[in-house]
Amino acid sequence: MKKIIVAIDGYSSCGKSTIAKDLARYAGYTYVDTGAMYRAVALFMMTDPRCQTPEPVRSLVSLLPEIDIRFALQADGSQHLLLNGEDVESRIRSLEVGSKASEVSPVKEVRRYLVEAQQRMGADKGIVMDGRDIGTVVFPNAELKLFLTASPEVRAKRRFDELVAKGELPVYADVLQDVNTRDYRDTHRTESPLRKAEDAVVIDNSHLTREEQMQVIRDIFNKAVKD
Ligand code: DC
Repeated sequence: MKKIIVAIDGYSSCGKSTIAKDLARYAGYTYVDTGAMYRAVALFMMTDPRCQTPEPVRSLVSLLPEIDIRFALQADGSQHLLLNGEDVESRIRSLEVGSKASEVSPVKEVRRYLVEAQQRMGADKGIVMDGRDIGTVVFPNAELKLFLTASPEVRAKRRFDELVAKGELPVYADVLQDVNTRDYRDTHRTESPLRKAEDAVVIDNSHLTREEQMQVIRDIFNKAVKD
């Protein structure tokens, strides 16, 4: 069976990473969470003393070559993001870092730097990558492209539950507002706005269980590796 690249794009909190991880496990492929990479760059800007300037984004851009991002496979099969060797997996998941990530992700130099790193990660195929521009910019020739979507309310509820599970005390209205703000930013930025690739398969999972959705995606995957 041939090895392929699976590109998964979609709005924030629509379950992309859950699906991508499930599919990677099923296929025996490597999973790459590109949102985590943008979050790591945001965390770098928030914490590196050299970015505490009147123009933090400008400082960040000049320091990009010093940012090393890798994924470390854990014993339980999950991946943790290492920022310059430090495991920042749990720190990059906060609402604050997510919101900063949507400020740094429109920056052209940041995108160029991370897209190149992502293309290197997929050079040998056998990869499931999720993000916003995977099927359109990072791997426009991916053999399988999925575009996931769900209503803003369903996505806000999912993110709310995730934050509660992590011990944060979110307010639902704030989370919904954040989802809407991010959707707007993701779809309206000049650099690689979120949009469906013409050849992507759309999956609206507002009313699908994880298992139902997985079944649909496995069928699509099995067909794609046979073609
Ligand atoms: O999927 P996420 O919430 O972890 O993504 C964090 C931010 O990074 C979000 O604002 C969208 C942005 N992003 C992007 O611009 N391109 C990607 N390929 C992945 C994420």
